[in-house]
Amino acid sequence: MTLDAKAAVSAIGALTKHRPTVAVVLGSGLGALAEDVQNADRIPYERIPGWKRSTVLGHAGQLVVGGLEGKTVAVMQGRLHYYEGYDMQEITFPVRVFKAWGIETIILTNACGGLNPTYKAGDLMVISDHINFMAGNPLRGANDDALGPRFPDMVGAYTEELRRLAHEVDKDLREGVYVAVAGPNFETPAELRMLRRWGADAVGMSTVPEVLVARHSSMRILAIATVTDMATGLPGLIDHVSHEEVLKIADAAGKRLASVVKGVVRRL
Ligand code: HPA
Repeated sequence: MTLDAKAAVSAIGALTKHRPTVAVVLGSGLGALAEDVQNADRIPYERIPGWKRSTVLGHAGQLVVGGLEGKTVAVMQGRLHYYEGYDMQEITFPVRVFKAWGIETIILTNACGGLNPTYKAGDLMVISDHINFMAGNPLRGANDDALGPRFPDMVGAYTEELRRLAHEVDKDLREGVYVAVAGPNFETPAELRMLRRWGADAVGMSTVPEVLVARHSSMRILAIATVTDMATGLPGLIDHVSHEEVLKIADAAGKRLASVVKGVVRRL
């Protein structure tokens, strides 16, 4: 691993006095929560060595560090995606930095397409498990045994206690399997029908790489997906998807997502 998480931590340490215990990654159009952070220090990604910039509309590209619901948090307002052209190590570098900074709990959010025909746009889904269909893995290459094991166990990666807390905060959350694709195109109807048959409830272009690295380094993980469109590939249930529509629905659902995340953080 050429990226130096310790160097990033010392650069961040020179820009904020806060010492967070929880990291939150905000997905497409879901940046609003970052406005609720108290006494916030806002650190543009370009100030952190090794940390790539967000290039996608709907991702502000700054680390917001401060107080939330009685805890100290580090919020990534804007994530990094594989489809932006970064490699798997680059998009998951922030997770390595969080761990090196002493953070043990990570909450990941995203915008996704709903594959389960009982879902509807605007639903929030707690991720219980995933399918990695991105054709890439951030753990590929020489393993640093000081960071985690060569062959990490993925059973129970999505921490049961955190999932339970989320359901306690909001009784109407869905729970299901997320399949990650590389993107950047939205899926064809044939691909969507295949992904559904594989057992996935939602499809998106993120989250799984971060989960792999967080699990590798024994972090506690909660991931919540926001269904921004129904992507079933079924006749009569086919939506044409656009990034604008994704951002619009994400913005509306973002307020509910923010209260779930805050409720969980309060209970930690
Ligand atoms: N497919 C993949 N990623 C997405 C979608 C989708 O339908 N909606 C939001 N992100």
